[in-house]
Amino acid sequence: MCGIVGYIGGKSATPILINGLRRLEYRGYDSAGIATISKGKTLICKKQGKVAELDKACADSGSTIGIGHTRWATHGEPSELNAHPHQVGDITIVHNGIIENYADLKVELEKIGYEFKTKTDTEVLAALIDNEYKTATDISHAVRTALNKVAGTFGLALLSQKDEDLIVVARRGSPLILGIGDDEYFIASDTSAVVGYVEKVIYLEDDQLAVVARDGYDVVDLNNKAQSVQLHDLDQDQVKAEKEGFEHFLIKEIHEQPQVIADTMRGRLLKDGEVRLGGLNLDDDELRDLKQIIIIGCGTAYYAGMLGKYLLERLTGIPVSVEIGSEFRYRDAALNPENTVALFLSQSGETADTLASLAEIKRRGIHSLGLVNVVGSTLAREVDGGIYLHAGPEISVASTKAYSAMLTAVMLFGLKVARLKGLARSEALEFAESMESLPNEIKQTLGVSDEAKRVASQVKDIEHTFYLGRSDLYPVALEGSLKLMEVSYIHAQGYPTGEMKHGPIALIDEGFLSVVLLPEDELLYAKSISNIEEIKARKGKVLSVSSRPQPEQSDYHLIVPKVSQWIEPLVINVALQLFAYHMAVAKGNDVDQPRNLAKSVTVE
Ligand code: G6P
Repeated sequence: MCGIVGYIGGKSATPILINGLRRLEYRGYDSAGIATISKGKTLICKKQGKVAELDKACADSGSTIGIGHTRWATHGEPSELNAHPHQVGDITIVHNGIIENYADLKVELEKIGYEFKTKTDTEVLAALIDNEYKTATDISHAVRTALNKVAGTFGLALLSQKDEDLIVVARRGSPLILGIGDDEYFIASDTSAVVGYVEKVIYLEDDQLAVVARDGYDVVDLNNKAQSVQLHDLDQDQVKAEKEGFEHFLIKEIHEQPQVIADTMRGRLLKDGEVRLGGLNLDDDELRDLKQIIIIGCGTAYYAGMLGKYLLERLTGIPVSVEIGSEFRYRDAALNPENTVALFLSQSGETADTLASLAEIKRRGIHSLGLVNVVGSTLAREVDGGIYLHAGPEISVASTKAYSAMLTAVMLFGLKVARLKGLARSEALEFAESMESLPNEIKQTLGVSDEAKRVASQVKDIEHTFYLGRSDLYPVALEGSLKLMEVSYIHAQGYPTGEMKHGPIALIDEGFLSVVLLPEDELLYAKSISNIEEIKARKGKVLSVSSRPQPEQSDYHLIVPKVSQWIEPLVINVALQLFAYHMAVAKGNDVDQPRNLAKSVTVE
């Protein structure tokens, strides 16, 4: 999703801004631009498409102050015109988030003579600030007054032609950091843009504004009350991720999963089947007394949560409900705050709907835990406790290794609670053994890549697919279908296998592919084979995925290692990730940055 960079210091800003935008490319975007100020004049350079195009188009202005942006369209189509920065009068702005009352503000501004070139909410915000500056005492005052009039979310950075040596930044609901260098400052929506440039960062909080000058910075709230800020050490290990010989980040990250799972478990899963989780901020009595677990996430994280429910309920006996962030935040869920914990699953820790759900959970007085990958992200900072995933930077927009790491963390949490609730030591050891075997089993599963590629070459022109699974392979079917949709742009729908006959089967014909997940479990295997028969009877094509050999009824087959029921879903999921990857490659798609998608969805 949209990314922001900014620089003020002694060096030439243009290359720094372009490099920062390159680092933010993984978030997904459709256009990019930069603005610098030189001799009281603002220079703007924008391009639809990739940062590489922007780099070619923008000459180094020599200016030592500037802001930049990668845009993921919300208001107004992707185009050079709608790309940020937007300039109105003296004000030039880059903005993440959505100004919800922009239409009303626009009408008011038009009445007093402002004319708009674009359909963006950001141009309206620039005009609003420009107008306020006509009567405000200084630029900070103008921005604060304007921001107090807007509804919605913003992470913004702006230049003012009248104040050539200042960048003003502010945030509400959209992450923004200030990187502190030696006589220079960096601004970014995401720490990956400033790694290597600075060692210390400040995470701005909601409704804070900073005026960044050449010789220092000043942070206030939107009522001009001075704010004390904390300097955080920047984790330099998140060095710029490289493809390391892989053709795409997606396939690299799929292959990283054995290591990632081992890293998520390291130091937490102990030899005797016990679990050490230091950051939950819940004592053993509180964990033992849990009566309800809520899991909240979006996209892949939501599907990880769904599988988490199946695993946690079987392991702990505690009822688990799973909520989509964008739904939970607006529905009046009936929840009892007593003996309840809410698990927030998020790779980025910045997903707007997940954060809004966290605010609701806090309002209800429920203990919140974050199972988050990005250290220092908003979610990680705002939850009551949590488990970091240690999956390393996930660059591909389609999430793979974070999913496996989320489930590993959920299983660790489940095992801990189950032990406290009286799970027998022998059973705990058996479960722990399954978990320990996971990295190796996933390594074996990666061997199915060639077959997945061969199948993909044969079915790449298919237009519609079902992903079908029973029991805990149902959530895996949902995640598998999402992966295919995201990267191959093929219509894919996940369904519980047994539900096919209640409607979806009407769609089956020779042009339809059903990816059927077959469990090792005898009973469910037999039932699923009957469902394959029903599909074949209607001339549908079937790709089966199982640890068992290819059933005679299916057209294509991916075989995975035979593992315990606890980890079977994760193993099968890896085969589906590989299939989706090869489908995307076979179709010639932009695998790591699929069209219309964003890595970190910081707007509603
Ligand atoms: C976006 C990404 C998905 C991701 C979802 C939730 O839609 O494209 O891959 O699953 O956001 O992101 P989070 O960072 O909260 O896990």
